[in-house]
Amino acid sequence: MEFSIKSGAPQSARNGCLVVGVFEPRKLSRPGAALDRAAKGYLSAVLRRGDLQGKLGTTLFLHNVPGAAADRVLLVGLGREAEFSEKNFRSAVAAAIRALGTSGAEEASLHLTELAVGKRDAAWKVAHAVMVARDSTYRFSRMKSKQEENDTTLRRLVLSVSDRTAERRAAAGLEQGLAVAHGVALARDLGNLPPNVCTPAHLADQARELAKRYRMKIEVLERADMERLGMGALLSVARGSAQPPKFITLEHRGGPKTARPVALVGKGITFDTGGISLKPPADMDHMKFDMCGAASVLGTMKAVGEMRLPVNVVAVIPTTENMPGGRATRPGDIVKSLSGQTVEILNTDAEGRLILCDALTYVERFKPAAVIDIATLTGACVVALGHVATGLFANDDALAGGVLEAGATAHDRAWHLPLWEDYQEQLSSNFADFANVGGRAAGAVTAACFLARFTKTFKWAHLDIAGTAWKSGKEKGATGRPVPLLTQFLINRAHGARKS
Ligand code: BES
Ligand code: MN
Ligand code: ZN
Repeated sequence: MEFSIKSGAPQSARNGCLVVGVFEPRKLSRPGAALDRAAKGYLSAVLRRGDLQGKLGTTLFLHNVPGAAADRVLLVGLGREAEFSEKNFRSAVAAAIRALGTSGAEEASLHLTELAVGKRDAAWKVAHAVMVARDSTYRFSRMKSKQEENDTTLRRLVLSVSDRTAERRAAAGLEQGLAVAHGVALARDLGNLPPNVCTPAHLADQARELAKRYRMKIEVLERADMERLGMGALLSVARGSAQPPKFITLEHRGGPKTARPVALVGKGITFDTGGISLKPPADMDHMKFDMCGAASVLGTMKAVGEMRLPVNVVAVIPTTENMPGGRATRPGDIVKSLSGQTVEILNTDAEGRLILCDALTYVERFKPAAVIDIATLTGACVVALGHVATGLFANDDALAGGVLEAGATAHDRAWHLPLWEDYQEQLSSNFADFANVGGRAAGAVTAACFLARFTKTFKWAHLDIAGTAWKSGKEKGATGRPVPLLTQFLINRAHGARKS
């Protein structure tokens, strides 16, 4: 689907469909009222008859509307005007796209982007309309033997803004929305690919492709390199797997040469069986999504590369499978991490923190201004926050604030959880410096506490995306989160809206 921006009266738009909003109860939005005047009260008469109340997400097609140059008019319910939130704006756009997809219209002009959404400007509304449109028409069919017919007829969407000055700013929103949408699609594709295709080598190939396309620097370390460096924690996870592990570094240098980079570290477990601490069989296929942290980092790099964002970013992806086997790590094994600290592995299913800790030590060499790791780390985080908010932990409050704000702007929200010293004692070990698990209580916190022991020398935030990176059930699949949050965070930094 292609997008463009236009200002002007709805009745003059010559295309397949005009999309205008209706607030509850039966109240036309401003572009709707303008169209109604041109149509000599045709729309208000339809509403008076009670065909559409304006309930959020409901839709009604009208044909042969007098005075309108378009073939059709689509009315979209917006809910109550006083309650018209960012979430409702996004729901209304999604409902419009869904209805248009089966309408036969190839082109439509969306007037919902003219509505007032809190204090958000035209650029924000356009960016979100683009992201929602792309997200709701995303399909993953490449593993089907017969490619499904593209089920949406819509080819072009014209996003309407109030006037000429808004048009210019909206163009930046369009560019940003598209870049994020492309990053999200990449993250979803990688997450949805089966674990026999999306291996550590596949992730490395994807990173190489991004490097080539956007002129980034790439390095892929092999098992022998990791052994030489002393990444004992990461390698302990890879022991049971026949797939060779990879350690990927991808660098975008868009900012001033001397500016310290932001480092993004993504968990890349391409399949998590639990290892010797084997997971139960039910739903084990979900653990193909255990590389969604890595996928979100690659998706964000794509968005950053596409926007040529003037900021320095280093992406680091430790990637391996977590498999059982004769060579696999046993519960009770003690390993030495790259930092020199020793870890007693009491549960081989707490493997994410083991690959991340060596990656976090590794990023020290880039003298990062800030480090953010992204990981499907704990089931406990899903229990705590469900599938709505990503869990956020940080050793720096200004950094946490920046991440939260980016999440709010991108509507890809996180919630700040504690990282207090008091929790650290749960990780104590009689035999090594500490253990890799801290018992059932506060599982998401103790996992973050484990990582905190490797991030003392820089500002660091940790995003636990176990509940937000993918969905189960009928809609099973990767969501692409938190690509929108991460990209917005980097955009804010590029624009100097940073305190740290
Ligand atoms: N990849 C899982 C976390 C996970 C669980 C993500 C469910 C998404 C849905 C992680 O490697 C894991 O197994 N964590 C354990 C930690 C425990 C052994 C301390 C968990 O959450 O049960
Ligand atoms: Mn695990
Ligand atoms: Zn895992």
